[in-house]
Amino acid sequence: MNKTALITGASKRIGKSIAEYLAGKGWNIIVHYNSSKKLADEFVRLLCSKYPNQNFYLVTANLNDMDEVVALIPNVISEFGEFQLLVNNASIFNAAYLKETSLELFNNQINVNLKAPFILIRDFANHCKSGNIINLVDTRVTTNKSNFAAYSISKKALWELTKMAALEFAPEIRVNAIAPGVTLPPNDKDDKYLLDLAENIPMKKPGGVKPILKSINYILNNNHLTGQLLFVDGGENLGQNA
Ligand SMILES: NC(=O)c1ccc[n+]([C@@H]2O[C@H](COP(=O)([O-])OP(=O)(O)OC[C@H]3O[C@@H](n4cnc5c(N)ncnc54)[C@H](OP(=O)(O)O)[C@@H]3O)[C@@H](O)[C@H]2O)c1
Repeated sequence: MNKTALITGASKRIGKSIAEYLAGKGWNIIVHYNSSKKLADEFVRLLCSKYPNQNFYLVTANLNDMDEVVALIPNVISEFGEFQLLVNNASIFNAAYLKETSLELFNNQINVNLKAPFILIRDFANHCKSGNIINLVDTRVTTNKSNFAAYSISKKALWELTKMAALEFAPEIRVNAIAPGVTLPPNDKDDKYLLDLAENIPMKKPGGVKPILKSINYILNNNHLTGQLLFVDGGENLGQNA
């Protein structure tokens, strides 16, 4: 029987690439979306036509609304049954130094990037009982740069949560994290923005999604790996050599 993965924020960009990649490996996919209904519908239709012997489902939840977060996994299980992989990919990325961070911005960042994964991790462990959890964090977890202060704190905490969950849920569930660096430009920026950023990292070029997909594959196929963080950041976490 094919295994099933729930991927949050899977209608576009990195989440979509992870979903396409896993579908290509025979997984059934539960595509979660919030505002991108049209993209998510089209994506699921495409997956269904490309892989007619697998199952593809759509589920929506605003991860900034805790009632919807708490209902998400119980609803998924009652509609589609248990699943074996949870990928916490959905995220918001708002720039603001500490001094400029409003309570609203802080709450949004923490809700979507930390509280929601916390509840989904808890519910996956309670309802599905075995499998894998992969959390998308960020190479920023290694720095104290505060230009995205609330975002960075949310991802630092998600990495700590990864280790805590790995310890509590072993050996039935493995919990690991992936830390991308310069990967895709934010929606409001172009490739030039990304190339300029990449000038400052050891590997001197943006990574794109492939290194993330290779890390997903590595985590899923290494059954002794838990509580680990795979950096796919072109060495950015090492700092600068001058
Ligand atoms: N892109 C990069 O270069 C980069 C670098 C480092 C780390 N990362 C991490 O990698 C992951 C994917 O990055 P990305 O750039 O592909 O992400 P993204 O496009 O910024 O966001 C992914 C998805 O998150 C969902 N989302 C946002 N707010 C939500 C909410 N309130 N409720 C439910 N879903 C919500 C959105 O779904 P809808 O569109 O349906 O609303 C969106 O499609 C993130 O965790 C990010 O922090 C990315």
